[in-house]
Amino acid sequence: MGAVYAVANQKGGVGKTTTAVNLTACVAADGSQTLLVDLDPQCNATVALGADRELRPSSYDCLIGEVSVAEAARPAGPDNLWLVPANRDLAGAAVELPRLEGSETRLRERLGPVRERFAFTMLDCPPSLGPVSVNALVAADRLIVPVQAEYLALEGLVQFLDTLSMIRRDYNPSLNVSGLLITMHDERTRLARDVERELREHFPEMVFETVIPRSVRVAEAPSHGLPITEHAPSSSGSVAYRNLAAELIARG
Ligand SMILES: Nc1ncnc2c1ncn2[C@@H]1O[C@H](COP(=O)(O)OP(=O)(O)OP(=O)(O)O)[C@@H](O)[C@H]1O
Ligand SMILES: [Mg+2]
Repeated sequence: MGAVYAVANQKGGVGKTTTAVNLTACVAADGSQTLLVDLDPQCNATVALGADRELRPSSYDCLIGEVSVAEAARPAGPDNLWLVPANRDLAGAAVELPRLEGSETRLRERLGPVRERFAFTMLDCPPSLGPVSVNALVAADRLIVPVQAEYLALEGLVQFLDTLSMIRRDYNPSLNVSGLLITMHDERTRLARDVERELREHFPEMVFETVIPRSVRVAEAPSHGLPITEHAPSSSGSVAYRNLAAELIARG
């Protein structure tokens, strides 16, 4: 049985999409069937894989309509990598969802046979804890929380973990945190080293060993519509995301 992961943090620009795209691509390159579900109306994950923002069916049709996530999956280019694209319609979902009955569990009910078809399903969340992210956290088995190695990283994180406890209690008791992932780490700066130390002290066991370095190659890969493993396979960012995939699989 495959696992469904959510990549979430209500803070914007911390590397959620970069992680969702590149981690999924690394697992796909290793030979497992993987699915990336873009749940952000910014459509960044969709565009990062070179797909159009107007495709249908999209994640909106899964959340609001009757299409299952498994049905909405389409090949994304690289072998074994599939995508449920986001579409601009998704911007309306945050308003439409609360009007629907059982709005928190819609995505979970519409996953379809994704765990049978895909070893890994990765849900890329928007930067908020609104109705769409709640749907992702209710549908997921495991959670990856990217954290940027910067000042105040910890404050937002504590708030996020509080909300997570509520979602666990009310909707999804089996949701596990796979780990906190330090992203955009620049080991030359003292601040990044301090933030890393602080995170590891506060959340022992929870922080992935693997740290994602700040890298121009990682930042430019989406403009080529490619994951880092295809854009710059031997770059430090590509090596880091491959290590993260191995660590994730080892953690089970
Ligand atoms: N390791 C990295 N090195 C350099 N730049 C990076 C790295 N990871 C992410 N970035 C860049 O930082 C910006 C934010 O990353 P990303 O879009 O992955 O964050 P996000 O959390 O998904 O943002 P949002 O909250 O808006 O969805 C992007 O421009 C991305 O290219
Ligand atoms: Mg994003």
